[in-house]
Parts: sequence; C-alpha cells; structure tokens
Amino acid sequence: MAYNLLKGKKGIIFGALDENSIAWKTAERVHEEGGTFVLTNAPIAMRMGQINELAEKTGSEIVPADATNMEDLDNLVAKSTEILGGKIDFVLHSIGMSVNVRKGRAYTDQNYEYSHKGWDVSALSFQRVMQSLYKADAMNEWGSIVALTYMAAQRSFPDYNDMADNKAYLESVARSFGYFFGKDKKVRVNTISQSPTPTTAGLGVKGFNGFISYAEKMSPLGNASALECADYTLTLFSDLTKKVTMQNLFHDGGFSNTGVSQEVMEHFV
Ligand SMILES: NC(=O)c1ccc[n+]([C@@H]2O[C@H](COP(=O)([O-])OP(=O)(O)OC[C@H]3O[C@@H](n4cnc5c(N)ncnc54)[C@H](O)[C@@H]3O)[C@@H](O)[C@H]2O)c1
Repeated sequence: MAYNLLKGKKGIIFGALDENSIAWKTAERVHEEGGTFVLTNAPIAMRMGQINELAEKTGSEIVPADATNMEDLDNLVAKSTEILGGKIDFVLHSIGMSVNVRKGRAYTDQNYEYSHKGWDVSALSFQRVMQSLYKADAMNEWGSIVALTYMAAQRSFPDYNDMADNKAYLESVARSFGYFFGKDKKVRVNTISQSPTPTTAGLGVKGFNGFISYAEKMSPLGNASALECADYTLTLFSDLTKKVTMQNLFHDGGFSNTGVSQEVMEHFV
C-alpha cells in the first residue's frame, strides 16, 4: 500500500546489490511512495550486481562511487543534485563488508590490513558520506540520513567478528555528526538496527542460519524482513519523524529487549 509519503522528495540510495539487498527493497518502496533518487554502489559491485534493472524499474540514474573514496563521494553528491534538480532530502547508507569475515579470519586472529579495510568500508564511509553532503551544503532542511546497523554493536555475537566493532563506530558517527547536522542544517541522522536478514552481506556471517533461526524464536514479533526494514526507513525519510535524530532505533521484532522466549526455553527443558 502506498501513501505518497515521500512525494517530491529527492535522495541518494547506497548499497543495492541484488533484489535481496535492504537498499533494493528501500528503493522500490521509496519509488512507490513518490520519491526520486540516484542509486549508487561501488564500481566493482555494479559489475556483479543487477542495479541497472532496479534503475530502470524506478526511473533512476546510477552514479558509481566507492564509499571509501572522497573524490567519488564528492562527485556523487554534485551529480546527484544536478540530476535531481536540487538539494537532497534523504540518504540511505546501506553498506557493509568485513574482509576478515570474507577470508575466514577469527576475531582472535585478525589481519589488521583486513580490519582497516572493513572499518573504512563499513563505518568510516558513513562519516565520509556525511562530510561530503555537509561541506557541499547538499541537504535540504528537515532532510533525513539513515544508516543500517546490527545489535552486535551492543552485545557480543561471536561470529559477527570485527563487524561488531565497525557497527559500534557507525552508531557513534550517527550521534556525532547528527549533532552538527541538526544544529547547522536541521537535518536528522539515525541508525536502524535491523534483524538478521538473508542478503549477500548477511549470509556471509558464519553460522548465519543458526543466527537467524535463533533470532526468529527469540523475537515476540519474529524477525523483521528486508521489506519491513524498507518500510521503517521510509517513515524516517518522511515528514512524520522530523524531531527523531541521533538515535539507534531497533527494528528487530522485540529481540533486543527479550531476555528469553518460551520457544528458546523449550530447548532446555
Ligand atoms: N543482512 C543482515 O543480516 C543485516 C542485519 C543488520 C544490518 N545489516 C546492514 O544492512 C546494510 C546492507 O546490507 P545487506 O544486508 O542489504 O547486504 P548487501 O550485501 O545486499 O549490501 C551491502 C552493500 O554494500 C556495498 N558495498 C560494499 N563495499 C562498498 C564500497 N566500498 N562502496 C560502496 N558500497 C559498498 C555492496 O556492494 C552491497 O551493495 C549493511 O550495513 C549491513 O551491515 C544487515
């Protein structure tokens, strides 16, 4: 169901790799709600992904940008305002990658070159994106910037590896930049802490199947899907949440506040 929540709003959506991506679902929903946007992803991901299909479907243009490269980001911001014909109302940062996870390095046996790269891609990139938008004065007042995160930033999940530390940094950046973006530009900045979701990034986590089933059984409302995450993100892009900023918002069916559930208890009786 569409409500025209984002009619006239313009944005940038990072991270749509394939139809499972949370960013993909968000782009489809933003389009349905009347928003227009530029799609972006790392040049290498574009060759592997199906982003052209999404661009066609949503009438969007694609501007490639490696989120660790300032030149790419500045170019993306300049091109996006040009393509969209004005300043930007919403930005989705939906980017994550751990080289240690990809190469199967345990948390107790990190390769720090890998850690550095993963941090740059998954966490510092959020600072970079916001600095580029801020310096170019590219955001409209009452605009909204959202990044996606996971609860491993607060609690230990052994197989989440160094992504846990990257997410803790990402959430901190939302608060730190959120202060300046709020004060200086009346723009809000939040992170959404999403349930485990079967996407390329999600499935890369060791033991993901156990992880997602456990979360499903622990959450009173069950896990939140990628589409439900997209819906929640839209509310943060809309004018209905103007004073919500510098928050980490759990979108996890209640998992984060559940000590134990009946279903999980039953495994032990
Ligand atoms: N899937 C889950 O279980 C889950 C749970 C909570 C939060 N998240 C977060 O949601 C976000 C989106 O992930 P997803 O699950 O949709 O997976 P995904 O693999 O579909 O998306 C990750 C995206 O990051 C992009 N990316 C990687 N390196 C990049 C770079 N250098 N520059 C620009 N983009 C780059 C990839 O190309 C890809 O499009 C991530 O921040 C992820 O950590 C995922």
